[in-house]
Amino acid sequence: MKLKLKGMAVIAVLASSFLFAACANQQAADKKAESTGAETVAAASGKTTATAAAAAAEKTAPQAAGAALYDETPPPLKPVDCGRCHVNQFTDLKKSKTKHRFDCTRCHTQFHVYNPRKKNYDRIMPKCQRCHGLKHGEAFPNCMECHQNPHSPRTIAFAQVEKKIKGKDGKPVVSCAVCHTSEGTEFAKYPTKHNVEVNCQGCHADKHGYIPSCLDCHEPHVEGQVYKDCLVCHSPHSAKRIKKYPEDTPNKVCGSCHTQIYSNLQTNHTKHSELHCATCHVKHGQIPKCQQCHGLPHGKALHKRFPNCLECHKDPHNLPVNKNK
Ligand code: HEC
Ligand code: HEC
Ligand code: HEC
Ligand code: HEC
Ligand code: HEC
Ligand code: HEC
Ligand code: HEC
Ligand code: HEC
Ligand code: HEC
Ligand code: HEC
Ligand code: HEC
Ligand code: HEC
Repeated sequence: MKLKLKGMAVIAVLASSFLFAACANQQAADKKAESTGAETVAAASGKTTATAAAAAAEKTAPQAAGAALYDETPPPLKPVDCGRCHVNQFTDLKKSKTKHRFDCTRCHTQFHVYNPRKKNYDRIMPKCQRCHGLKHGEAFPNCMECHQNPHSPRTIAFAQVEKKIKGKDGKPVVSCAVCHTSEGTEFAKYPTKHNVEVNCQGCHADKHGYIPSCLDCHEPHVEGQVYKDCLVCHSPHSAKRIKKYPEDTPNKVCGSCHTQIYSNLQTNHTKHSELHCATCHVKHGQIPKCQQCHGLPHGKALHKRFPNCLECHKDPHNLPVNKNK
């Protein structure tokens, strides 16, 4: 196998040096022909004699003139040599900084064998699967649909990536979720208006891998909040499921929605005003019990008679204050 490959490479190399030489000769001849008509005639008539002389020489001398040029074995072409003719392919590989910047012939185990009559183009071209297999699973067998340029494979056609494909149950699904299963599952399990009005490619728009800012589309709750703050409470793929926020979350953030409670706590100065909302409400929506922090501070009898602290204390955000204190 190895031998055969080597042989093929040599043939290929020979073929390409021939191409080179033929090309150069042709150019020289063309130049000559352009200069003067007289010279062309002279050259043409001279050619027959020269050819006859060469034939005669071949018969007599075993070592042809210039044969020394063939004493060497051509070294294999390096990518930069291929790049002399295939400028675009070389430049794509170089500029895209892809990991494909290895020897061209590791992929092109055969080249310069395309024959239109044999219609063998697809057959001779390298196959991604030879090295990568079905990288993204059975759902994506046609590599070049997305990786349109093998010499710059990370340039991805977004139109293909955002396309809907047939899911496991036969229903169409956006292809993002097929590769990104954990995000896809979370998104489907905790639906919000994002599922209907935005979807994956509405947020991660235009270019594969783009990360949006929530502020591209939303106002912050309070002035000064930046994108990173949003992610403290919101997971982008289940935006209504509020995460556990830190205790020092500023009250005014909560106050942007719970305006009345916020203003009560601000204006009615009790010791509760010094606390963060998040000290008592450790998770969004959670309601604490007074006893968690205070136990049963009054006499047993009183608590038995009035089990609800708020019968007297009214409102934790607006405790009645003893003005005489
Ligand atoms: C990672 C594998 C890989 C490497 C490395 C690679 N190629 Fe290719 N090349 C391919 C594939 C696959 C195709 C077929 C593209 C198609 O079918 O459209 C191709 C096609 C070509 C073509 C045909 C025209 C075209 O661009 O479609 C040329 C010429 C070519 N390559 C030259 C080179 C040269 C020169 C190098 C090294 C400097 C190189 N390739 C390195 C995989 C590779
Ligand atoms: C002297 C110029 C020259 C050099 C050097 C050269 N090629 Fe080519 N190559 C051509 C020409 C001309 C074609 C045919 C036209 C085309 O497809 O661009 C071609 C076609 C190709 C093709 C597509 C068709 C086929 O038959 O395979 C590939 C792949 C290819 N070359 C790879 C290479 C690789 C790899 C190297 C270096 C090992 C290389 N070439 C070196 C001139 C060259
Ligand atoms: C001769 C083997 C070979 C072939 C054929 C091949 N690759 Fe690769 N490819 C590699 C190697 C090796 C790496 C580097 C892997 C690594 O470091 O993990 C790579 C890396 C990649 C990467 C990672 C991104 C980067 O840095 O470039 C992509 C994408 C990729 N290949 C796509 C393709 C596609 C699409 C094709 C077909 C057009 C293809 N490959 C054909 C060997 C190959
Ligand atoms: C639906 C589009 C699509 C198809 C089809 C597709 N790919 Fe990819 N591929 C991608 C995207 C998107 C990436 C991520 C690129 C990035 O790093 O940003 C990727 C990345 C890769 C990588 C690099 C993996 C890594 O972890 O960095 C390899 C290798 C690869 N693809 C090979 C293939 C092969 C082989 C096929 C065909 C069997 C194929 N791809 C088909 C879209 C596709
Ligand atoms: C064919 C598989 C495939 C498809 C389809 C695909 N991706 Fe990816 N994506 C990848 C791979 C591979 C990576 C790079 C490896 C990784 O970070 O997991 C990636 C990376 C990403 C990243 C992370 C970028 C970063 O900086 O960390 C985001 C965001 C992303 N994809 C979103 C999407 C969205 C949105 C879609 C649909 C429009 C999509 N992807 C479609 C395979 C795919
Ligand atoms: C509301 C906008 C929005 C929608 C809709 C959305 N994402 Fe994201 N996605 C984001 C943001 C913002 C991040 C960055 C999160 C971070 O930095 O922690 C992200 C991160 C990602 C990442 C990278 C994760 C990582 O750990 O690097 C992937 C992959 C991804 N999203 C895929 C998807 C897929 C697949 C869908 C659809 C099922 C989707 N996203 C829907 C906003 C969105
Ligand atoms: C591409 C625009 C876009 C981006 C980016 C975006 N959203 Fe949205 N979001 C919308 C639209 C459109 C709606 C539905 C209409 C509305 O309520 O304003 C929505 C609704 C919401 C809702 C209410 C959901 C419901 O079902 O009631 C929340 C919560 C939300 N977004 C949070 C976020 C967060 C957090 C981020 C960043 C991780 C984010 N959004 C990024 C467009 C976006
Ligand atoms: C301290 C936690 C917290 C932070 C930080 C936070 N949010 Fe929210 N957000 C919420 C809560 C709680 C809701 C209400 C959820 C509900 O309706 O059940 C909400 C609701 C939303 C909604 C739905 C529409 C609405 O106003 O009711 C959007 C949009 C939203 N947030 C965007 C953002 C953006 C953008 C950021 C970052 C600038 C952000 N959030 C930061 C807790 C937070
Ligand atoms: C974007 C508006 C918004 C923000 C910001 C917000 N909330 Fe809410 N909150 C709501 C809505 C709407 C509800 C009622 C729906 C629900 O139960 O999710 C609610 C419910 C509550 C409840 C439960 C009410 C009940 O009757 O059971 C508590 C407690 C609460 N929020 C505390 C907070 C705290 C503490 C913060 C700040 C860390 C905060 N909220 C931030 C909108 C918000
Ligand atoms: C000292 C602890 C404490 C602090 C600080 C506190 N709360 Fe409460 N909150 C409670 C308790 C206890 C209840 C239950 C009251 C009841 O049962 O009627 C409650 C009830 C609520 C409710 C739901 C009932 C209602 O009155 O609508 C909301 C919303 C709420 N708090 C928001 C806030 C916000 C916003 C802040 C900060 C501005 C805050 N809380 C600060 C203890 C506290
Ligand atoms: C998360 C703990 C916590 C919860 C829950 C809590 N408190 Fe408090 N409360 C405090 C702290 C801390 C103080 C200040 C204590 C001090 O400085 O001695 C306080 C002070 C008070 C005071 C004295 C106010 C003043 O200004 O002198 C009253 C009355 C009170 N709490 C009643 C309640 C009632 C009633 C509830 C339930 C509705 C409740 N608290 C729930 C932590 C809490
Ligand atoms: C029958 C009415 C009543 C009930 C029921 C009641 N309290 Fe009180 N509590 C008061 C009065 C009156 C004061 C004021 C004493 C003062 O200002 O010296 C007070 C004071 C407090 C103080 C402040 C103590 C201090 O040293 O400043 C706390 C804390 C408190 N109560 C917690 C609770 C808790 C927790 C409950 C429920 C388990 C509760 N109370 C039930 C009437 C009540």
